[in-house]
Order: sequence, then structure tokens, then C-alpha cells
Amino acid sequence: MAAQILPLKDLSTLVSLSKRRGFVFQSSEIYGGLGSCWDYGPLGSQFKLNVKTAWWNAMTRRDDVVGLDASILMHPQVWKASGHIDTFTDPLVDCKDCKNRFREDHGTKADGAVVCPKCGSTNVTEARNFNLMFKTYMGAVEGENSEIYLRPETAQGIFVNFENAQTSARKKIPFGIAQIGKSFRNEITPGNFIFRTREFEQMEMQYFVEPSTAEKFFDQWKETRMNFLLSLGLQKDRLKFSEHGPKELAHYAKAAFDVEYEFPFGWQELEGIHNRGDYDLSQHQEFSGKKLEYFDEAAKKKYIPYVVETAIGCDRLCLALLCNAYREEHTTLDNGKEDKRVVLGLKPELAPYKAGILPLSKKLPLQEMCRKIQEDLNTQWLVNYDETGSIGKRYRRQDEVGTPFCITIDFESIDDQQVTIRHRDTMAQDRIPADQIKSYLADKFINW
Ligand code: GAP
Repeated sequence: MAAQILPLKDLSTLVSLSKRRGFVFQSSEIYGGLGSCWDYGPLGSQFKLNVKTAWWNAMTRRDDVVGLDASILMHPQVWKASGHIDTFTDPLVDCKDCKNRFREDHGTKADGAVVCPKCGSTNVTEARNFNLMFKTYMGAVEGENSEIYLRPETAQGIFVNFENAQTSARKKIPFGIAQIGKSFRNEITPGNFIFRTREFEQMEMQYFVEPSTAEKFFDQWKETRMNFLLSLGLQKDRLKFSEHGPKELAHYAKAAFDVEYEFPFGWQELEGIHNRGDYDLSQHQEFSGKKLEYFDEAAKKKYIPYVVETAIGCDRLCLALLCNAYREEHTTLDNGKEDKRVVLGLKPELAPYKAGILPLSKKLPLQEMCRKIQEDLNTQWLVNYDETGSIGKRYRRQDEVGTPFCITIDFESIDDQQVTIRHRDTMAQDRIPADQIKSYLADKFINW
């Protein structure tokens, strides 16, 4: 009987799978946890690395984009120039009745007054601007002169290195700089698991262009980025563009589109694509006193390049991919009982393990053959050896973490040097010679 396939219905199902199978744990859990900070476990850290690698390769394996890894701590003037000290704020209000603290724009309005989303009271304080940057001190002496910030976006590391990267890599405009790194925001209302957190990883690319070409490249990058997200397996009907209206535009942006994904808690921003104009380089030129103009030899003219930016949160993308991949297959068995198979339908390039290696018994010759296969496959991919529990249970364990193939070694394998390979999605099985496993998997991964 065909299985009934159900998608993820609520975030709590994913949160518990993530904890149980080692994808994501709450930070400092043994101390009761730390608000909106999360740790990636044994499988989650590998999954996240695969996501970053996919992004990094898509961005930098082309002639016109180079990589960068800038430091988190930057000169305090950077944040003055970028506008973050003055404008990177949220309007914060307190409910005088229930003491709830919330963003003014997150409360509804009744007769012009802000309504507390928790208790419905309109007895709330005036809004105060709350800066989202985390402040710390550099050096042994704490004081105004030693104040610095944890970066709230990776982009500024790119802008201040524009000239270094351009001249050292001998790039001509148009070209881009890509970077993956941690950012920090003291969000007032973080939540939804790893969707909005206070410490997160961004994957940003700033593309420097001649000003009159900015709109053309903006459109190109919109398309490129959407295709990338689709190539990771995100469902097309769960992705859409949403344009920022004049009120939503960030202080630096001339035009902006979000790519939104339909999470179990609704449509939300996944990635931002912005035309930042020459705002950032002009500001840094003014504040640093260092010329950041580009001389275009072909056109014999000088200009401050415009920037087309693509910015996505790695954690947010991981969440979208996990939500997208999760499915339950429900079947009624001949004996009338319900069977549930949980599958993470991740693309092989993103799956933490590329294969599970399962001996049918713990007998030594089978173990030895498995270990040899594992050693060989490990030279290319991360695979997982599992000998505990029934073979059915072991298949299910691999399905639940997205392992695309299981390789089973039975008693006959010792004699005929053949193994059984089971496909995660179809559960179909092939019997193939052990010395062809690598080429079999490579072929399946390419043609997935
Ligand atoms: N440099 C531009 C910039 O930082 P942004 O829209 O503020 O733009 C870009 O952030 C992306 O970073 C967002 O689309 C989102 O994926 C991710 N992001 C932003 N704040 C986040 C948070 N608190 N937690 C997780 N991801 C976040």
C-alpha cells in the first residue's frame, strides 16, 4: 500500500529530532540554557559545514568573486561610518502592566496607542531606541576609549578590505568579495529555534560595479541566488521574492528584495539582495580619509563603485533546509498496525553521512569487510558504521538523518565480495561488487 507522505507540521518536531540525533542543542544546556544561542552537534556541525561549502563553492568558483575572512572585532569608527551606531536600533517599549518588553512595531495599534501583544494593555512606555550591537572592551582598561563592538554584519569587513582585495587579486570591476562568518545582534525578540538568534553565521557577497550597471547586476544576482537555493533542493512553491517598500529599506539601501521561505511558522525572510549604492565606500572614504575610488582604465574615469549585496544567514538556511527535507511516511501494515518512517530528504551533498555501512551480524569477518569499505570511502566522504540493533532499525536511523545510501554486508558478501546498497528515498536495493561502491555512489550523487 502506498505511503501517505506528510511534511513537517510544527517546529517542535524538528527541535526534538535535532536534539535527539545531534543536529542542534541549546547552548549551555546543563546550566539551563542561554537565550537564543544554539550549538551544532556531531551531525549538525557536519551538515552546517556542507551548507557553507555549497555556498562558498557557488560563490567563489568563478572568475569574478574572491574570498575573504575578516576579523569579528573592528575599529570602532567602522560602525560610526557604516551608520550602525546611530541607526542600527529597534524601538523598544515596556508594558507597565505585565512588564513585557517588546518592539513597538511588533505590537498592534488601537486608536493610535500601542497594544501589548502579551496582555492586551495599552499602558505602555514611550519607545526608546535600543541599539542591537553587542558592546565589549579591548585591552586591560575598561572605559569609553576601549569600547568596541561585535560585528552585527560581515559586510563591513568586506568594504574596508575593498582595496586590499581588489589590488592583491588584481580584479577589475565588476567583481565581488564573498565571506562567511559570525555576526552578533542583541535581538529583542529572537526565537523560532535557529531562525532568529543573537549569535549567527552570515554568508555575504558584495559585488562592486560601475554605478550605471547596478540595476542590471542586481537583477542578475536575484536570479543567481534563487537558482542556488533551488539547487539545494528547497521547494519552488515555498520560495518567493518580496520587495522592500520605502519604509522597510535599510538606511544604506537603494533597492532591496528578500527571498522569503515558507517556514512552518509562516513566510519569512531567508536572504536579502540589496543595491547599497556607493553608501558604504563613500562613508568609509570620508571617515577613514583614505581614497576608495576605483580607476577604470578602459573608460579612463574614476568612480566610487556601487555595491550589489547578497546576504543570507547560514543558520536560517540550515533551518529552511531541515524543514524542507523532513517528511513522515505513514503506511498501514497487513496486520493493521500503523508504520511511520521519518526521512530527512536532504540532497547528498548536504547530508552529514553519505552512506551508512551496516554488517548483518557482528561476526568478525563481516566487521572486517565493513571497516575496509569504510576506510576506503572515508578518503572521499564521511560515512557511518553502525552495527547495533536490527537491520530495519538501522535503516530507519540513517533515513532520519538523511543518509542517502546504506551499504549492507551479509555472509554471502565474504564469499562473493558483493554488497547490497539501499536507496534512502525509494528503498530499492542493488547488489553490486564491493570494489565498485565508490564509482556507484559517485555516479548516483552526480545524477541525484
Ligand atoms: N549586510 C546586510 C545584512 O546583514 P540583513 O537582512 O540584516 O542584511 C542578512 O541580514 C541575513 O542574515 C538575513 O536575511 C538572515 O538570513 C540573516 N540574519 C539576520 N539577522 C539574523 C538573526 N538574528 N539570526 C539569524 N539570522 C539572521
